[in-house]
Amino acid sequence: VSIGDQKVLRGTGGELHQTAGGDIPTLTTQQGTPVADDQNSLKAGQRGPTLIEDQHFREKIFHFDHERIPERVVHARGFGAHGYFETYESLSDITRADIFQRAGEKTELFVRFSTVAGNKGSADLARDVRGFAVKFYTKEGNWDLVGNNIPVFFIQDAIKFPDLIHAAKQEPDRGFPQAQTAHDNFWDFISLTPESINMALWIMSDRTIPRSFRFMEGFGVHTFRMVNAEGKSSFVKFHWKPKQGLQSVVWNEALKLNGADPDFHRRDMWDAIKMGDYPEWELGLQVFDEKFAEEFEFDVLDATKIIPEEQVPIRIVGRMVLDRCVDNFFAETEQVAFQTGNLVPGIDFTNDPLLQGRNFSYLDTQLSRLGSTNFNHLPINAPRCPFHHFQQDGHMAFQNPKGRANYEPNSWGKDGGPRENPEKGFQSYPEELEGAKGRHRSETFADHYSQARQFYLSQTKVEQGHIADAFVFELSKVQTAAIRERMVSHLLNVDQDLAAKVAKGLRLKSMPEPADAARPTIMDLKVSEKLSIVLN
Ligand code: HEM
Repeated sequence: VSIGDQKVLRGTGGELHQTAGGDIPTLTTQQGTPVADDQNSLKAGQRGPTLIEDQHFREKIFHFDHERIPERVVHARGFGAHGYFETYESLSDITRADIFQRAGEKTELFVRFSTVAGNKGSADLARDVRGFAVKFYTKEGNWDLVGNNIPVFFIQDAIKFPDLIHAAKQEPDRGFPQAQTAHDNFWDFISLTPESINMALWIMSDRTIPRSFRFMEGFGVHTFRMVNAEGKSSFVKFHWKPKQGLQSVVWNEALKLNGADPDFHRRDMWDAIKMGDYPEWELGLQVFDEKFAEEFEFDVLDATKIIPEEQVPIRIVGRMVLDRCVDNFFAETEQVAFQTGNLVPGIDFTNDPLLQGRNFSYLDTQLSRLGSTNFNHLPINAPRCPFHHFQQDGHMAFQNPKGRANYEPNSWGKDGGPRENPEKGFQSYPEELEGAKGRHRSETFADHYSQARQFYLSQTKVEQGHIADAFVFELSKVQTAAIRERMVSHLLNVDQDLAAKVAKGLRLKSMPEPADAARPTIMDLKVSEKLSIVLN
């Protein structure tokens, strides 16, 4: 027989054997031993049993048995692509980061878009926040901008992240729903966490059902710092603006698409890049100083708030083009490890307690996900600039330091390996710090409704209708009446009309009291009062 122009032999049991020759390479084991027969295991006699000395069979099955690694604890479902960043102008006035020094310079990058709550095999059109993570392979090391397509977040302090994610993912007894916000645990947590109300408005908007990854904005969310060569610091918020425009589907379309093609967003990105229709985003910065931060009506360290573009306009500083699909999904998209702590000289953290917590979390989880401290040796994670350090050994170490020196200081002169570089090295911004140790939450973080109202009122009538419909749809899946009522009591503090529409859609018998908007901190209250707040 033949398949295409290839000759195929038929075995004694009727099985097909495609053989090597000409341009077709010989199949080997992982040890490089040529394989004669990949269709039949080694047997004693015509009809078995299979012999344990069959090393090719053993190696093949052993490797297959261990193909799965843990999926990401969040953002498990994602899709990646390669591309480049091109700087429009030098930003040496605000940062010494090498990537921003020369107009027209291109830097390689890798992007992974994702949903947050669903498992790896969930559907693309779930109502969910989308991750927007970018790894820039700069000449001074990797810079990861690990953002989302929504500019605010659910919580102000990273200590609440495990609770948020536990509540958002499938309920632990029943194992469902897997990628839906429409369930009791999720809305229970939101309704008991007033700081999440602004985000709740954003996630009920059309932004959480994007038409495709190509039509989404991206945000660094936190306030970061940029520091120039003179040591002057500026605060910065990062924005990605899609050149394709911003587009979403409506809920009915999302439901149909999920049924017809759960891979709709993956396919869209793959097809666009393969056809040469490369998606582009422009990088924009909101740059402001300490004085603005002090006078701004919200705390710039509070990740549940935006800085309106009317107050600090966006400066467009470059563009990102995605022009290459991955060669292998697992090697690249699955094994890429983003980490907010991956910064380069000239870019720095602020004291945003959500960002500070994230800086701990990513390394930790990647050790458990990728199984070795050496995941940075993987080509997708390794820097593309020269790098030299003394970290060694561990599972799968294949980039150990060469030569005698694996410590410093040492006496080995030019054979002594890499040395510190006070001039070029990363320097943390020397911010003055003071205050008593304690589990504090600043009262500048206390207003949870004003920006939610601002966001709702900034929407068109049609979009406002979609938000109300989304609340009704999602909350109607909640079986506990008290949770639905609690959500409406929050909405009363956002917009009366919205609250009325949702209450009507949910057929509430009466309107609840508005949630207490200016409650004292729980630490100041007596136990009985704490209890009444909980019961509220
Ligand atoms: C993963 C964004 C808050 C822990 C991710 C990813 C993105 C992201 C985009 C996917 C990375 C990828 O594609 O590989 C954000 C944003 C946040 C936020 C924008 C808030 C502004 C947090 C917080 C924590 C956290 C507060 C924990 C304290 C994680 C973990 C992963 C992850 C553990 C999985 C990483 C991996 O396995 O590679 N996050 N996240 N995130 N995030 Fe966050």
